[in-house]
Parts: sequence; structure tokens; C-alpha cells
Amino acid sequence: MCGIIGYKGNKNATSIVIEGLKLLEYRGYDSWGIASKNHELDIIKRVGKIGDFQDKSKLKKSNIAIGHTRWATHGKVTEANAHPHTSYDRRVAVVHNGIIENFQELKKGLEKNHRFLSETDTEVIPRLIEENMKEGFEEAVKISLNRLEGRYAIVAINQDEDKIIAARKGSPLVLGIGKDEFFIASDVPAFLKHTNEVIFLEDGEIAVINKELKIFNQKTNKELKKESTKISWTLEQAQKSGYPHYMLKEIYEQRDTLKKAISQNDEDIKRIAAEINKGFGTFFIACGTAYHAALTASYVFSKITKKHINVVLASEFPSYEHFLTEKTLVIPISQSGETADVLEAVKAAKEKKSKVIAIVNVTGSTLMRQSDVSFQLHAGPEIAVASTKAFTSQLALLTLLAYACSGKLEEGKEKLKTTASKVSEILEPASENKIKELARKIKNKNHIFVIGRSVNYPIALEAALKIKEVSYIHAEGFAGGELKHGTLALIEEGTPCIVFVAEDETKKEMISNAMEIKARGGYIIGVSPENNEAFDFFIKVPNSSSLSPIINTIPAQLLAYHLGLERGCDIDRCRNLAKSVTVK
Ligand code: M6R
Repeated sequence: MCGIIGYKGNKNATSIVIEGLKLLEYRGYDSWGIASKNHELDIIKRVGKIGDFQDKSKLKKSNIAIGHTRWATHGKVTEANAHPHTSYDRRVAVVHNGIIENFQELKKGLEKNHRFLSETDTEVIPRLIEENMKEGFEEAVKISLNRLEGRYAIVAINQDEDKIIAARKGSPLVLGIGKDEFFIASDVPAFLKHTNEVIFLEDGEIAVINKELKIFNQKTNKELKKESTKISWTLEQAQKSGYPHYMLKEIYEQRDTLKKAISQNDEDIKRIAAEINKGFGTFFIACGTAYHAALTASYVFSKITKKHINVVLASEFPSYEHFLTEKTLVIPISQSGETADVLEAVKAAKEKKSKVIAIVNVTGSTLMRQSDVSFQLHAGPEIAVASTKAFTSQLALLTLLAYACSGKLEEGKEKLKTTASKVSEILEPASENKIKELARKIKNKNHIFVIGRSVNYPIALEAALKIKEVSYIHAEGFAGGELKHGTLALIEEGTPCIVFVAEDETKKEMISNAMEIKARGGYIIGVSPENNEAFDFFIKVPNSSSLSPIINTIPAQLLAYHLGLERGCDIDRCRNLAKSVTVK
């Protein structure tokens, strides 16, 4: 939610910040802004996407600049609400990601001396800094931070000094170290072109970038010695590499990412499997697509390991916290590792001394650093808002864990390898063309229903989510037997219904469910290894028996992509959404 970037160095800061903002747009894209330091602070703010900005001549050269791409929380999408926000005298500029929960109270106090120009919670920050500037910029920022409640990543500059100050509490910030230059951003891809040497800022830390970089503990004011690390992601991974959209690139990357997800250290997997086996209650917690991976995995654990897993949406976890003890195992699953609800759940688990084992994609993310142990998906950067490759990697890794828990790690690995090798078949041009044809057929429908049973029930939920977010068609996923408990009333002549029919014990019942829908006029789209008379449209997938969820997901992702394309949607930047949800 919201992307931040700042630069100080010998190069032209404004172009580096603009370039970085483009790479951060997946975090928010309703408006953007930049502040650069010359004789005074030059500020440009615009509604819309940064790619649409034509008037580059307005960007004056500078050696210090900060920028922001917004996902609105407080205040409509207007130029006035876009960041940076400034002190009333416009000498201080601030960009912010997060929510200042006590902003109304702070604003009331400040209103005697300040006329506010926006509806945002953020504007109180530069105003508080302004109130305290007599103490010096650095001190003024520190005093102001102590007054803020809520979550934030902030970056501030001041007209009178060559300094960038950054601080975080709950929202991500990472520093990039170059030769005589520094970057600060919400995420590494924003500056990966320039450096892969990074320092992750922790909650309660303040970074002061001047001629050199200093990091302080906000409470004690003590300087901290933090080591930098090298990120293994390459720039190529963070670019479209010839694909028209990140989403399509990431769908195709699944030919490799599954293999990477399962190439984990055997001993680590076995050790965690033993923890799960001895744990007194295991919770999978996640949001959105990652939640669907968790739900699928709970079926796999039940089938393979005969073990019950509690699967809880991270945002609902506060209602379950009282079940946590020192013996509970909490397994948060998150692509970004920055989802606020997931991090809150982890905090609660740690307070109860439960063990936290994370499954995460982004290296160095908050979740990775806050967990006792973490497994990385190694899927590389996922930029499209719609999560694709991270989902199948989560499925693969969780399946591997389930097999390990029942002492069959090698068998699990072999099965997953075979499944991974079948992914290319679905991504053959002929298969994709079939899906394009389907997208053209159903692109003007108002509703699409998706059904699946057992391990494929969460895949129905995931397919519906992908279709909704990428094409804006209303889609709903159901367990095979559930549609007739109410929603069948919505089936009309030609209503598309996607039916996942796997070669498993649910096959006959799924076909019966498809027939029930067909009898009421539904247009049945069968996703299955074998055609059936129940299907009006057939999407052939390789038979992958118990691992069908991984395979079945991919045509659904492609269908969502092509529906979005047919309907002229902004594929990688879905309406109203952002890639990582860092607010509760
Ligand atoms: O980064 P996370 O995996 O924690 O994100 C969770 C959800 O916000 C995410 O999966 C979201 O549902 C995606 N847009 C779905 O495609």
C-alpha cells in the first residue's frame, strides 16, 4: 500500500525517483508525487498513473528527492491528497505509507496555527515537524514520531539541509547502499538497477542519510551498527522481459518456480515437520490468495498426514488468539511478508510464546525477520497485483511439508517434481489459444461461478478471486455440493460455470454437480484430464492425481488474464487494489 522512494547522491535524483516510482506502482497507483531539493523544495503531484506523465521538463535536476505512489486510505484521490505533504511554510516535505490512527486528535491541536490543505492523515506529520523545527530537523522528526500512533514508514526532507530522514513502525522500508549514494524505498526492486546491497530498517529505527548513513534507535537515540546484505534478485527478474504484462510473465514463470519452491534443505523440512507433528494445535494464517493456499494445504494435510490444521484468515485471527499457548505452532503464509493483518497475528502469537514458522516469498521482509524460522518460496519478485506464481509455490511447499509430516518426504518430492514437469503442457500455445477463445466467448457475462470439491474447493475460490480482480466480472467459488443450497437460483441460460473435475474420489460427484447446473441452463466449462458429456467447453489439463490443485490453478489464472485483456482492464494494476496490504 503506497510506494516510497528517496535518493541522495551524485546522480539526478528526480529521474531516479520517477524511475523507482514506476517500479513501485504495484503498491498503489491512484496518484503520485515527488519533492526535490534545490533553492526551495520543488513539488509535483498528479492524479493517475506515473506512466501517463508527459511533462518531464517540469522535473528539475537535483541530488536529493523523495517520491510516493498512493493507494488512498484517508481522503479521495485528488492532487491535494497526493504525497508529498509539506509544512505550511513548504520547507519540509514528507511521504508516508501506513495510517496515523490519532491524526484527528493531532490535527485538532495543530489547527490553531495551521491551515490544512488535504484530507489525509499524513499531513499532520510535516506540520508536527514544523512546530518543532527550532530543535533542528533531526530532533523535530524524532519528537514528531513520538506523537504518532498507528503504522508508518516515513521519509522526510528539508529545504535547508542535504539530508533525508526515514523511520518505520509497521510499514516496510529498505535502504540501498551505492557508491557515494543512498536509496530508501518500500521495496528493493525500486532501486535494484543501481544496487543490490541493502539494509532493512526495523520498527523503531531512524535512518539519517547525510554524507554517510547513520541509523538510530528511536527510543534510546543510540546509534546502531547494522550490517548490509546482498540481495540475490536480479533486475531481469523484476522486469517484464518481453511479456506484455507482469501477470503473464509470472504465470509462465511457473514452469520453473515450482521446482525452486521444493528445492529446500531436507533437514530443515524434516525438523519443521517434526515440530508440526508434536505441536499442540497448528494454525495456518494468511489473507487472499495465500489463504486459499493455506486452505488447500489443510485438505492435503488431512488426506496425507491425517492431521487437522486450523486455517484462519489473518484479519479474523484476533477471535482465535485465546487458543494460543506455548505449544501452539503458528504458520503465517504470505507472498510479500508485509501484510499488516498477518504481522498482527504473528505479534499476538509471539506474545503468547507460540512458535512462528513463516512461509514467505520476499527476502528480508518483516514477516521473515519476525518469525522464529522461515521458509522462502524462491519465486523471485512477484510484481502483478494478482498473485499467481507465489500461490502455486505456496501449494508446492505446503504439500512437501505434509508429505514430510507423514515421513514420506521423498515420495512427496517425486510427485511434486512430476507435477512441475507437467506445467509446460498447460502453457503450450494451443492450450493458451483455447483459453483465449473461451475468454472471448464469456467476456460479456455478468457472473461466473466456479466449483470444486475437496482439494479443488479452495482452487474454485482462488479462480473466482483471480477473475474478479483482473477482469472485474463478478465470480464466486463454491464447494461442488454447495451451489444448490441457494446460489443455483442465479443460474440462467448460458451462465458460465467452471467445474474442476480431478481424477480422484470426487470425480463422480463433481460430474453430477455439473449436470445439475447444466439442467438449469448453465454453460459448463470443464477443467479436467478427460472430456465429459457434461462439458460445453473443455479445457484439458494433465492428470496429476492428488496434486491436481497446482495444475488446475494455471488455466484459471490464464482465463482471468485473457478476460481482463478482452475487457480492456489494467491487468497488472487492478482497480482499487494494491500489491501488499500494509494497512489493517
Ligand atoms: O503478500 P500476501 O501474500 O500476504 O498478500 C495477501 C493478499 O493480499 C493477496 O494474496 C491478494 O489477495 C492478491 N491480490 C490476490 O491475487
